[in-house]
Parts: sequence; C-alpha cells; structure tokens
Amino acid sequence: MDNAVTAVHARAILDCRGYPTLQVEVACGAVLGTANVPAGRSRGSAEAVELRDGGARYRGYDVRRAVAAVNDEIGPALTGRDASDQRALDAFLRELDGTPDKSRLGANALCGVSLAAARAAASVAGLPLHRYLRPDSRVLPVPLINLVGGGRLTSNDLAFQEFIMMPVGAPTFAEALRMASETHMALREIVVARYGKLSANTGDEGDFATPIVDVHEALALVHEGVAAAGFADQVVYGLDCAATHLWDAATQTYAVSGRGYTTEQLIELYRELVREFDVASIEDPLHEDDFEGFAELSKALPGVQIVGDDLLVTDPARVRRGVEAGAGNALLWKVNQIGTLTEAFEAAEAAFRGGWGVCVSERSGETEDPIIADLVVALNAGQIKTGSPVRGERTAKYNRLLQIEEWLGADAVYPGREFHRPLPVMAAPGA
Ligand code: PGA
Ligand code: ZN
Repeated sequence: MDNAVTAVHARAILDCRGYPTLQVEVACGAVLGTANVPAGRSRGSAEAVELRDGGARYRGYDVRRAVAAVNDEIGPALTGRDASDQRALDAFLRELDGTPDKSRLGANALCGVSLAAARAAASVAGLPLHRYLRPDSRVLPVPLINLVGGGRLTSNDLAFQEFIMMPVGAPTFAEALRMASETHMALREIVVARYGKLSANTGDEGDFATPIVDVHEALALVHEGVAAAGFADQVVYGLDCAATHLWDAATQTYAVSGRGYTTEQLIELYRELVREFDVASIEDPLHEDDFEGFAELSKALPGVQIVGDDLLVTDPARVRRGVEAGAGNALLWKVNQIGTLTEAFEAAEAAFRGGWGVCVSERSGETEDPIIADLVVALNAGQIKTGSPVRGERTAKYNRLLQIEEWLGADAVYPGREFHRPLPVMAAPGA
C-alpha cells in the first residue's frame, strides 16, 4: 500500500512571534508530508489543550513534551496505517490520546500529525492538497484583511482586536489582494502623518498598532485608508471584537473605549457602528459563553454576519449548539482549536448544514506554512482571515491562493458580496 505510513517525526521550530511550535513530517515511503502547527494568543477557553512544557526553557513555552508525544508514541502507533483514510487516522489519534480535550498528547501534537498525514496522502495521489481533499473545490475566498489592531495582539489601548476591510467588489482574488496591499500602503501614510512615525508599528498580524482608544476612530481610519486608495465603493468592513477578553464577570460589563458597557449597551454600540460604516461581519461581539447574547444580537442586526470564534472553537458539538440557538450565523474555522482535520471538517459541515457561513482563519502565532489556503479552497468556504498583506507568515497564505487561483483558471470563483452564502454541504475527508 503506497499510502501506508512508514515514519512520523516532529521537531520544534519557531512561530512568527519567536515561540516554539511543532513541525511534523509523515512519510509514506519516499513521499513526505510536512505541516507546521500555529498557535493562538487570544484563545477561547474551550479550545483543545495545546501542550507546553512549563519550566524555564522558552519561559515555559517549550514543546518538548508534544514533540516527544509524536516521536515516541504517536509515530510508532501510526506506522503501517493508511494515511489516505483521514477519518480513521484522526479517530485513531483521538483514541490514542484518550482525553476529551486532547490534553494527554496535546492538540498541537495531534494537529501536526493530522495535517501532515493529509499532505502525505495528497502527495502520494499526486494532487495539490485542496484538490485531493475536494476534487470539485474551486471557490477562492474573500480575504478579511486586518488593518488596524488592538486587544491582545498589539500593545495599544484599543479594545477591539481587529478592524477589517473586505474587498467584496473585486472581480478575482488577485484583484482583492491588490486592493488590500494598496490600502495598506495608503494607510501607512495616513497613520504616520496623523499619529507620528512610531505609530506605523504593526501588531502580530501586520495590522497597524496605532495609539487609538476609540473604536469609531479606528473604523474611520480603516475607511479613510480604503477611500484614499480609491476603493470606497468596493469594500465592506469587519470587526473581531474578541469580547471574551473585555468581559468582566464580576461587574457583568465589557471594557470598551475606556468605559464599561452592559450587553445591551454593547449591542447598541454595534448597531451604531453598522449604521455609520458598512460593517458586514462582526466576530466574537460578546463573550465566549453568551450563546443567548449572540442570538439576541443576530436578531438585532439582520444582514450582518455574526461570527463565533471563542464561542464555537471549531468544535462540532458547540457549532450544533450555536446553530440550534441561532447564536450567530457563521463559524470561524481554526483546525488547531479542535485538533484534527476530520473534526474541523465536521464543524464546517455542521455550520453549512445550518445555513451558516464559514470563515477559515489563521492563528496570530503563524508560521510560513500556507496550509489554510488549500483548506479554505477545499471547503469552498469563500472567506479567509489571515492578517494584513505583509509579513511572510501572512503572505505565504495569500501567495498560495494566487497560485491556486491561476491553476483553476476559468473554473475559479470569487464570491465577492456573496461571501456568506452557504455553499453545498460537503462531507468530511475520508468519509
Ligand atoms: P488567536 O486569535 O490569537 O487565538 O489566533 C485570533 C482571533 O481571535 O481571531
Ligand atoms: Zn477571533
């Protein structure tokens, strides 16, 4: 069997923040599949557990235990198994770990093996990963470009984490990316002129970490950059509020722009922002356990995409709960939140079946591995969030999408304003 796993190996590499993470190789004979594992900083508490060593090395962030889990336990157990049966392979990984939150072997260990196995099987089949996973995949994503940042991913005092442009008026992905790049250039000039040279420093995702406190001002700034670049009528806007990190359970309020907001007041603020700017998507508008608040907000803002990240953590069970409760209408999709490709596909499928959108996402701690570009096309998801169009770990994804779009040629679809329209439900790989 050409697809039989013959060796598995992990090593520690560095992510874009300089923290250690895993690189995993799965070999099927002479064919090698490699995947790097990203890491979040603004994480949901229901995410599968990423194994870190504690202690002094790398200030406790070393991943020697997860590396050993792959090399000493997962690798030998996986040898001889079929890399092309992703579903069985992922089920085996979960069983081997044996915990509900993947805390024994580590979701980072499992995720690296799961993704590297998919890559190895695609290589054996002689296909690019997106085509291997879904032979009919052809939808390029609308990029959600994070241009101004706050929250945990920068060092300013802006509450919301990401202020996003969505080039929905572009005819192709390549043109959307050009619009994003030209806007980033224009925005830099505005930021330097208004806030001073040091203000053009960027956050973890290449977004400007401008010293702004007021969320209206930040959104106005992104709009100004878009307008200066000449794209005002082709762009809508998005927010990732990452509201879990603004929530104070003791006072039941959110800290935004220097004051406390009740849930009702925050919903009113969103209503205002949607009225004032063309906001088409809001991620994590409320904290990670507030399914009811998400449902209330979704009713209050018809026509706006309400995305669950920390709320849903790419967990099929939480997505089903969210769909049933009407808690939003889109899933933010990050494989390492749940730990295996199969479960992540199941989460996407649950979202699609509920009539929801799916936005494939990077983590803030990325590597140069562009795998999510293939995954977003494989899902026909139509949306990707992978930072500003700068810094190698971000452009790796965008550049891979340029390549895929060109390969697809006339078959490629750029959904534009239809980014949220659910596409046909698709089965998980190996089903
Ligand atoms: P991360 O968060 O730091 O956990 O990757 C990014 C996000 O909230 O979308
Ligand atoms: Zn988020």
